[in-house]
Amino acid sequence: MTEPAVSTLADHLAQAGVLICCGSGGVGKTTAAAALGLQAALLGRRTVVVTIDPAKRLADALGVPDGLTNDPIQLPVDGPGELWALMLDTATTFDGLVRANAADDDQAERILANRFYRNVAGSLSGTQEYMAAERLHALHHDPRFDLVIVDTPPTRNALDFLDAPSTLARFIDHPLFKMLMLPTRRGLKVLNIAAQPVLKTIGKVVGGDVLADAVAFFQAFAGMETGFRQRADEVILLLASDITRFVLVASPRADTVEEARYFAARLRAGGLEVGAVIVNRCTPTFGEPPARRPRAADRVALYDNLLELQATAATEREHVAGLLADSAMPVGVDTTFVPMLPGDVHTMASLAAIRSLLFPPTR
Ligand SMILES: Nc1ncnc2c1ncn2[C@@H]1O[C@H](COP(=O)(O)OP(=O)(O)O)[C@@H](O)[C@H]1O
Ligand SMILES: [Mg+2]
Repeated sequence: MTEPAVSTLADHLAQAGVLICCGSGGVGKTTAAAALGLQAALLGRRTVVVTIDPAKRLADALGVPDGLTNDPIQLPVDGPGELWALMLDTATTFDGLVRANAADDDQAERILANRFYRNVAGSLSGTQEYMAAERLHALHHDPRFDLVIVDTPPTRNALDFLDAPSTLARFIDHPLFKMLMLPTRRGLKVLNIAAQPVLKTIGKVVGGDVLADAVAFFQAFAGMETGFRQRADEVILLLASDITRFVLVASPRADTVEEARYFAARLRAGGLEVGAVIVNRCTPTFGEPPARRPRAADRVALYDNLLELQATAATEREHVAGLLADSAMPVGVDTTFVPMLPGDVHTMASLAAIRSLLFPPTR
């Protein structure tokens, strides 16, 4: 077989089932996710954009004044496809999973009423990432959508949700988890299980009540872990498959390029690959300046300004070249440049402007 040609951003948008926008904070991930969603909908795809960022930026970028919810809402698009958007709410998603997967109402209520579940489970490190992975699984299998675009949070650990399914799988296989599940298997009481040496030690640190609540939670959970484990395995396969594509959003500054390299390396370390790059907020150059410096005072200022912009743009190009030459970047990866607009992107009209810069009609 011959090597497939390098896919363009437009190819990814047309072919992907899941498209993940990553990059450091403030570069324009959310803006890009929204603009890609708009383009996909205009091309006829039934697209849902999900933001894992608790900040309201996606609603802002899509011009939704009342904000987004955990349930997808449909936005008006003048095209054959559909555009939906939602903002992940960890607690609501977890509750929904418990209700959907419990053997019966009784089991669901026991978990939902559990103190450990109510007060601790949601804030445990990893729960948010795990819920993002669960949500991705659900949206990918939702018959209403054929493309899920993920807008990741503005932190360095934004891609931790990629690891969440395998962490969960390891946890379920762990002897400690098996021990926590013992009560239902052997008909032991919560107190007896909490008396196990390992858990006794944990109990001394976190407090006996917390431990008892936790044991009761896992006890109530028994039987559901199989489904959680299965979905985790499916998400691992989904993320590694050709269905999922990664778009790295960067801006052409030294510090953000450094961060972009980190994300490329992070993906590569997980056996994944940057599919396309968007370099956002580039300094516009307005063409070549006149060969000679003008004499009139008002024009001199403009001329110098133009030279300054050109110098900035040249430095930016060097930064981007450094990024594209990075060993973690695929050779010849498709790269799209978007200039800095005069104002923020917080209406459908400005989003449409970004969209047409990403996908110029002549391209
Ligand atoms: N090309 C652009 N020109 C001007 N402003 C932009 C552009 N792209 C994004 N912005 C603005 O930059 C800010 C950060 O963008 P956002 O998409 O929220 O970044 P991120 O999600 O990476 O943190 C927002 O206020 C947005 O309106
Ligand atoms: Mg964002």
